[in-house]
Amino acid sequence: MNPAFAPFHNRRQRLLDTLTRRGGGVAIVPTAAEVTRNRDTHYPFRPDSYFHYLSGFPEPEAVLVLVAGDTPRSLLFCRDKNIEREIWDGFRFGPEAAADEFGFDEAHPIADLDTQLTTLLANQPAIYFALGHDLAWDKRLVDALNRVREQVRTGITAPARIQDLHAELDEMRLIKDSHEVLTMRRAAAISDVGHRRAMQVTRPGRHEYEVEAELLHAFRQGGAQSPAYPAIVAGGANACVLHYVSNACRLADGDLLLIDAGCELDGYASDITRTFPVNGRFSGPQRDVYQLVLAAQQAAIDATAPGIAWNVPHDAAVAVLAQGMLDLGLLSGTLDGVLEAGDYRRFYMHRTGHWLGLDVHDVGDYKRDGDWRPLQTGMTLTVEPGCYIRAADKVPEAFWNIGIRIEDDVLITADGCDILSAATPKTIDDIEALMRDAHA
Ligand code: GLY
Ligand code: MN
Ligand code: MN
Repeated sequence: MNPAFAPFHNRRQRLLDTLTRRGGGVAIVPTAAEVTRNRDTHYPFRPDSYFHYLSGFPEPEAVLVLVAGDTPRSLLFCRDKNIEREIWDGFRFGPEAAADEFGFDEAHPIADLDTQLTTLLANQPAIYFALGHDLAWDKRLVDALNRVREQVRTGITAPARIQDLHAELDEMRLIKDSHEVLTMRRAAAISDVGHRRAMQVTRPGRHEYEVEAELLHAFRQGGAQSPAYPAIVAGGANACVLHYVSNACRLADGDLLLIDAGCELDGYASDITRTFPVNGRFSGPQRDVYQLVLAAQQAAIDATAPGIAWNVPHDAAVAVLAQGMLDLGLLSGTLDGVLEAGDYRRFYMHRTGHWLGLDVHDVGDYKRDGDWRPLQTGMTLTVEPGCYIRAADKVPEAFWNIGIRIEDDVLITADGCDILSAATPKTIDDIEALMRDAHA
């Protein structure tokens, strides 16, 4: 096995150990399907996150099968070598080289999967599979199960249970191993270059897409395969549209620019937001709201540590934001009243973070038995408070169309947290200094 794939091998071993302790069974993990974009062109292929987590195998048309029990083993089904196709589409490992390189116990042609499944599922107590995500695959699995059931008069028993494999894997994926943390650090470092570059090139009169182009350039230049999600490059009022992605407008002097963008590196997302003035200088009202969101983020980060329940950082951010909204005259009443009634949601309508990993909104439960779960060492999440002030009656006009979010990627450590995206400028002084130098 290539040592680069040892972390994936280790994860397969851990999952096999868990399933063996549960009495054994067969786990089936297909990679993603190739999807047509138009006519004979496909969207860029990206492996399924679970499949990638357990295999590292990059090709489409591949399925991982893990057989737990007395002799645990992992099998890959993949495309055969095909010299003609490789001339057109590029290298294929083929089963033999795939087994060697990635450390599978066995590898077989994908064309043999259905036949082999009938054998692999015979006399097994359970199937572990993510039912309901792909109807074609659900049918394929049920067909395989039924083929085993047809053999019962020969003395073969068919699996009696189909268990949700994602439930097992989500908990594993929630706690990042050292290989994952390293990749996420590198992803954040590449995104940092993009965000700095965006701050440096932004000028009144440029378009949002021109700034987006700088981000994408930095991501690919740094070795990332793609953005982790469509970049939000939102000037002025567009920053108050939470999922703005058209990035088509011209940037105006005096407006803010909100950029929510992160690269995906080797499958792992970064997710960073910075907000800065198009002309390089925060105005008074922009400064007031920016300092408020920054203070809210700091309050949330201060509350981000192992043993702390998931909602505590969110509540800390909300308390700061709600008080600030009162102080700025965006809301009236008392802090308790505003928190109780949720009036702050008019300007802060999303939560303060989410799990981060292979998926930008990564897998894993946020509650356990009805309670917000405690943070644990090795979890990675975002901390991303914001304040979005649309033009409206009874809102002081000075604040109209100010939309600010500040988002960092955070790793829970033994004694607190480590901000993976800390290098990206976020104080007013640091942002203005970077932009001033770029304009000089
Ligand atoms: N970029 C998506 C998010 O911040 O959740
Ligand atoms: Mn986010
Ligand atoms: Mn984001």
